[in-house]
Amino acid sequence: MLLPGRHLLGIEGLNPAVINSLLDLAESYALLNRSGKTRRDVLRSKTLINLFFEDSTRTRTSFELAGKRLGADVINMPVSTSSVSKGETLLDTAATLNAMNCDILVVRHKSSGAPALLAQKVDAAVINAGDGMHEHPTQALLDALTIRRHRGRLEGLIVVICGDIAHSRVARSNFLLLTSMGCHVRVIGPPTLIPAGIEQFGVTVYHDMRPALEGADVVMALRLQTERMIVDQTGGGLIPSAREYFTYFGLDPAKLSYAKPDVLVMHPGPMNRGVEIASQVADDSAHSVIREQVEMGVAVRMAVLDTLAQRAFGNV
Ligand code: CP
Repeated sequence: MLLPGRHLLGIEGLNPAVINSLLDLAESYALLNRSGKTRRDVLRSKTLINLFFEDSTRTRTSFELAGKRLGADVINMPVSTSSVSKGETLLDTAATLNAMNCDILVVRHKSSGAPALLAQKVDAAVINAGDGMHEHPTQALLDALTIRRHRGRLEGLIVVICGDIAHSRVARSNFLLLTSMGCHVRVIGPPTLIPAGIEQFGVTVYHDMRPALEGADVVMALRLQTERMIVDQTGGGLIPSAREYFTYFGLDPAKLSYAKPDVLVMHPGPMNRGVEIASQVADDSAHSVIREQVEMGVAVRMAVLDTLAQRAFGNV
């Protein structure tokens, strides 16, 4: 199954058949990765450039691994020491890389829509690796793959997404993917961190952890994205303090007990332990699949690159 376009800019626009096809392919790459048979030549003689204007550990490293395992030449462009620091614009930077005949640009940027803008200007296939508060499509795909591996399906599951919904591209991509695959998605957080009109995504809003978590199959904790929060002129923030936030919304063993006994605990990372999640919960292998999410990130990015190569390059 091909992607609807040359690029992967978001979950928006992907139908359930395409999503299932990506997850099936990612599952086969996950098995190959575990067996140690990691080398493929799907992207032989192709160049992939990681262009990250925001920090990353998981996404950038897994795109690098995925690209190399598929045979691509992978370049991590160090934005902080590039000519961006001399004032070169995003578009000029992308045009420069495009002139070097790069085939795939993996882009992370603080501005929502930056990858979509680049996709209109370059010949390379563009993958959105997280843009502002908009989307993080490969994160949602790896989350879905992780859930599917444990539950065997997505349809009908109750998935609770906790915390800073307002600033989270992970939440947005997950709403789009999980609701389209038949999950019941609940969001929970303080009113200041739940954007108005969020119900249009087909999710149910809660402000109290107990009813939100009751009957949950999956609980996903999100980081407070303080770098995206606008503090008012008096220095007032969106939460009174990290300690108070943890008391009411932090995922700890007591709150987790409201969910189903076999609930899965997820977090996209990076985690702030003691703020949105307790170490006891994050490290409890009976429930936590946080490390597996990271592992599935490589498999999902291999599947995305492979599928995109079929569309963009046809012959490979
Ligand atoms: N989940 C995620 O995007 O992590 P990184 O910021 O480390 O890439």
